[in-house]
Amino acid sequence: MYVVTDGKLMWLGEKEIKTGKGIVDPKNPPEWATVFEASFLDKLSKIKRGPQVVNAKDVGLLISLTGIGTGWNIAEGGAGSGYLTSWLAHIIDPGKVYSYELREDHHKIAKTNVETLGFKNVVSKNQSIFEIEEKNLDLVIFDLPDPWEGVDAAHNALKVGGYLLSYLPTTNQVRKWLIATKSFSDRRVVTSSLIDWKTDPDTFRPKSKTLAHTAFVCIGRKTKM
Ligand SMILES: C[S@@+](CC[C@H](N)C(=O)[O-])C[C@H]1O[C@@H](n2cnc3c(N)ncnc32)[C@H](O)[C@@H]1O
Repeated sequence: MYVVTDGKLMWLGEKEIKTGKGIVDPKNPPEWATVFEASFLDKLSKIKRGPQVVNAKDVGLLISLTGIGTGWNIAEGGAGSGYLTSWLAHIIDPGKVYSYELREDHHKIAKTNVETLGFKNVVSKNQSIFEIEEKNLDLVIFDLPDPWEGVDAAHNALKVGGYLLSYLPTTNQVRKWLIATKSFSDRRVVTSSLIDWKTDPDTFRPKSKTLAHTAFVCIGRKTKM
């Protein structure tokens, strides 16, 4: 996949790309166009969107709170649009992401997205993550409405020292999660805010649209069998 740009606009494609200025063949571009290979972020921006994806700022938070890295083995559910799945696969390669999704339509979207991005280290399963089949995992992630239902399953699937993480939009859900996860240590509930600033030097101020709230990132650590 390639990015084709005239310095301002950007198009992604494999073969010929239709632009406002005409058709561009990325392998033989005209003088006014620049062509380069698409990065992970370029490709991720093109995935098909189904259910609401994790916000990118919270992916950053997830990484800094767990120290997730190369070779980790992770179970996540639900896969939804496969957005978080793709981030995880990108970061932990050659580790594996066991990606669970209950709904068949969402499973198809997530699986197709992950395959389109070329990841070979994702095992996509059309089943509930509350029946996790793996053991000795470094991290279990729940991005679904009722994670308290899967706390025991997550505890069994994690290695000692592994992390359980849930992504929850409302305080009501966090309360239930806190009651259900008492067997986990070092629990934290964290939110972050991100302000995107205009890059015009003459009107350097925050962009008018700022996201007030995305979700609570709730984390705990398994410290005993
Ligand atoms: C908000 S979406 C997840 C978005 C995803 N993290 C992403 O970034 O693309 C929540 C998904 O959880 C799925 N889900 C709900 N309960 C589940 C369960 N017990 N096991 C697996 N998936 C589940 C839903 O079908 C839905 O697709």
